[in-house]
Amino acid sequence: MRPGAALPHNGLLFFLRPPMPDEPSPTSLPAAAAELPGQGELHELRERIAHAAHIAVLTGAGVSAESGVPTFRDDKNSYWAQFNPQDMASEAGFRAHPQRVWQWYAHRREAVAAVQPNAGHHALAQWALQHPGRMTLVTQNVDGLHQRAGSPGVLCLHGELMRDRWLERPRACCDLAGQNPGEPPQCPVCGNLVRPGVVWFGESLPMGVWQAAEAAVQRCEVLLVVGTSGAVYPAAGLARIARRAGAHVAVINPAPSELDDAAHQCLRGPSAQILPALLAG
Ligand code: OAD
Repeated sequence: MRPGAALPHNGLLFFLRPPMPDEPSPTSLPAAAAELPGQGELHELRERIAHAAHIAVLTGAGVSAESGVPTFRDDKNSYWAQFNPQDMASEAGFRAHPQRVWQWYAHRREAVAAVQPNAGHHALAQWALQHPGRMTLVTQNVDGLHQRAGSPGVLCLHGELMRDRWLERPRACCDLAGQNPGEPPQCPVCGNLVRPGVVWFGESLPMGVWQAAEAAVQRCEVLLVVGTSGAVYPAAGLARIARRAGAHVAVINPAPSELDDAAHQCLRGPSAQILPALLAG
């Protein structure tokens, strides 16, 4: 892992590795320029997966790109090309402008509700259901598309967009079912604000979810790293943990990522094409 956390962390805090000077953008290769992997490369990985007692999958925003959900740091349509993450994805940003931040998450909720899981989500779900107990799916995504595709037991490292939680520690009067509507909604008794149930920069990942994810990558024989830039820790660190523990690590991404150096192989292409080819029947 390269040095330089933007925020202090205790191993679980959500932080972004700042770009190094003169570093090319990890996503600078346009998807259209990438060639799909050859049959030989796919076949070898299929064999490894077929013989593995346990596989783990780490997904990021790219797995939902073909459903129409924007990524965070890909191109000019990505979220962090349009917004400052400290404004829209930090507790300080929410406290400073609660209405603006709430409206942005409300917009994202509507956008996600209007799209469907793609062939990549479905391929993962089908494989897991056909091979009970052999896949652990860990996602950085908050969009719920893996769950809607039917994937069981998804480990959501960064929370869930559609869930609400309280900004301040909830008091006896705070009942999410009885919130006063507003932007954001609030507790009618004490005025506690409702916030989206996602993990923001500088916040801890849910401990039990992280521990389960870490245990899964430590015991898996194959780790698929799908559609993530690998820029956000501690999630990105799971690939290196898996590699150190002896797993075969395969990155699936149309563009170079910051985790390519942790991988034994990089399959260049969109996940909605590669995952079905890799995991079907
Ligand atoms: P990024 O936006 O950083 O990276 C998206 C990755 O998806 C890039 O590497 C793209 O090359 C790749 N990609 C694009 N289209 C793809 C496709 N069709 N198939 C496969 N890959 C494709 O998103 P994340 O790595 O997920 O946090 O970002 C990590 C975290 O940073 C997010 O969870 C988010 C953000 O701040 C929260 O919202 C809490």
